[in-house]
Amino acid sequence: MYNSVSSKKNHRIVSGARASGRLHLGNYHGILKNWVELQSKFECYFFIADWHALTTQYEHPQAIASNTREMLLDILGVGVDPELCTLFVQSQIPEHAELHLLLSMITPLSWLERVPTYKELRQKLKEQHLATYGFLGYPALQTADIVIYKPEWVPVGEDQVPHIELTREIVRHFHHLYCQDKPPIFPEPQPLLTKTSKMPGLDGQKMSKSYHNVIELREDPVSVEHKIKIMPTDPARVRRTDPGEPEKCPVWRFHQTYSTPEVQEWVLEGCRTAGIGCIECKRPVIDAVLREQAPIRARAQEYERNETEIKLILKRGAEHARETAQATLKEVRQVMGLIESNVGTK
Ligand code: TRP
Ligand code: SF4
Repeated sequence: MYNSVSSKKNHRIVSGARASGRLHLGNYHGILKNWVELQSKFECYFFIADWHALTTQYEHPQAIASNTREMLLDILGVGVDPELCTLFVQSQIPEHAELHLLLSMITPLSWLERVPTYKELRQKLKEQHLATYGFLGYPALQTADIVIYKPEWVPVGEDQVPHIELTREIVRHFHHLYCQDKPPIFPEPQPLLTKTSKMPGLDGQKMSKSYHNVIELREDPVSVEHKIKIMPTDPARVRRTDPGEPEKCPVWRFHQTYSTPEVQEWVLEGCRTAGIGCIECKRPVIDAVLREQAPIRARAQEYERNETEIKLILKRGAEHARETAQATLKEVRQVMGLIESNVGTK
């Protein structure tokens, strides 16, 4: 099955998504749609980062397994095809942990401490005791996740760019320490910024679970319709006869993602002249979201009914990922002068 993968363009990419549970439309338009596009162009390693979820959820690890499963269903549902890419769960590949350990030895604390997401999240989740070794090491683990597959590119959102920069720095440091008179082992991976359509939440802020403004990818149609119907609109439109301004309305942002230019024109004109009402304006959005979700829900349901298939997908993905990961680790141990491992290898 992987013949199709290896014969594909010689460019490899790696991307992970932290196991956070059911995905929403923002995740779809920001990340998953892109994975689907990339899988037929490049040799792709896609995984669910369940250990990364543990860095903030170590007090309640029970939820991570079911979150991982729900996410997998979402990922398969949108059309990420395990025949076209290598799809796996991070914790099934112990080699990530070994490489993380080795990289942690050479990574200066100050590099980790200055990562913006570290400072922000610690501040945001103050009550969660994030003064842990594992949380600080988040980007070092991410570095191991990435470089173990030697990719050229890492498709990520804007917020992850500092992590990729740190990855490049750690790679350079590693080569400086261990590969002075040898060819470098790792490429310096580049972020592949996704041309995301910025998908706002129901309230116009960024769509995010912590803001309670999401529509889940496989959300029940009745609930989707209800949520959009009660979405706030331009506050200037108190009465049906009051004109409004789409730029001040989160519904318009949905139209920008979901509607044709004709419908968009209808909204701009109708809103500004009070020619249409807000309920009317929301209808095409509701229909478009439901239309987008239907095939995703159907595909996910098929997988959901087929437990054996899911197990097999993960098993195959892990086997293939481990082969690549083990080969890299072998080189790493060699250049560092460590003794050959005779455990865990095939
Ligand atoms: N840190 C990423 C996020 O929060 C998830 C992640 C973990 C990742 N390992 C990765 C992304 C490797 C790209 C490559 O979204
Ligand atoms: Fe928003 Fe549409 Fe109402 Fe204008 S008509 S305020 S764009 S929902």
